[in-house]
Amino acid sequence: MPDQQKPAEGAANALPVTAAQIEQAAALLDAGGLVAFPTETVYGLGGDAENPDAVARIYAAKGRPANHPVIVHLAPQGDPNYWVEYLPAEAQRLIDAFWPGPLTLILKRAARINPAVSGGQDSVGLRCPSHPVAQALLEAFSALRDGHGGVAAPSANRFGHVSPTTAQHVRDEFGGTIHVLDGGASDVGIESTIVDLSRGFPALLRPGRVTPQDIADVLGEAPRLPDGSDATAPRASGTLKAHYAPRTPLALLPFEAIEPLLAARHADRADERVALVARASRAGRWADAEGVHFVAAPEDPHVYARELYGLLRALDRANVARILIEKLPDTIEWIAVNDRLGRAAAAFEAQG
Ligand code: TXA
Ligand code: MG
Repeated sequence: MPDQQKPAEGAANALPVTAAQIEQAAALLDAGGLVAFPTETVYGLGGDAENPDAVARIYAAKGRPANHPVIVHLAPQGDPNYWVEYLPAEAQRLIDAFWPGPLTLILKRAARINPAVSGGQDSVGLRCPSHPVAQALLEAFSALRDGHGGVAAPSANRFGHVSPTTAQHVRDEFGGTIHVLDGGASDVGIESTIVDLSRGFPALLRPGRVTPQDIADVLGEAPRLPDGSDATAPRASGTLKAHYAPRTPLALLPFEAIEPLLAARHADRADERVALVARASRAGRWADAEGVHFVAAPEDPHVYARELYGLLRALDRANVARILIEKLPDTIEWIAVNDRLGRAAAAFEAQG
């Protein structure tokens, strides 16, 4: 195409942060400090993966138990072999297909790698993010470590709370105490897919943008779920652990079960506002009923995932007594959104 129609070089391709900010952040990591940085999934709270004091600082900042393993983030030129005892052929195939991108692999940890990053387990989680700011930071830090630097980073939120998808969300979590690189809103919006290859067969530990079907297509074998079943088969959520929760009580129900709740509440407690998150195609008259704070949920699973955590944070500020969310279909395209919504709701199920 003619030159003038090309996006201006340096303008369209410029990072939202300066080279000096990247250098400063890499130096902070090098000194054992923490840096929150954008990835295409969610913002991470990063520290030098090979420095146990830095990893301990991550746990302390999050209020997270120290036996939880943290994902190690590698630059695109990084060598996964440095971190693992061996790289199975299946891992290489998934790396070729999905890196850089929202897929984390759990592999046997190399003996040289400090177990602090694995919460003491014999495995290590590896991921190469596609966000340009994450890549620039990882490259700059890696260069300070003979090309082998890795950044340990859980999501940059307090333990159990909703993951951040903007720099402002990170500031809302930690105040001014954490250095944040602002790379705009995360595109995927939910955490990476996690596949465990350390046990001799592929197992899906966390669903995300890369679906079980995507993985089956590459490996020629469906990943298993923790209960041993096929992750590409439709499934009811039964074993969800409470996590990813907003502060306002949240219930996840099929729309048929939400309607009577709204009707009853409407009659008894008209003074109390509830939030209703449902696809506009289902909400009908409840979209503009009195006392209902209606949010039209995206009809597309990728868009829903992108907006989910920002929505939960906004609903916490919306001054509603309760959040009612329409459960999405039990199909593979909704598996990741249903997983996060199910965990958010599970945090309140014990309270009735
Ligand atoms: O998208 C993501 O993965 C984001 C961004 C920042 O990259 N990170 C993230 O990290 O979600 P975090 O810490 O919130 O979730 C990490 C989870 C752990 O809770 C654990 O389930 C799993 O990854 N994990 C990490 N290392 C593991 C290991 N060695 N063995 C088993 N599970 C591991
Ligand atoms: Mg997290």
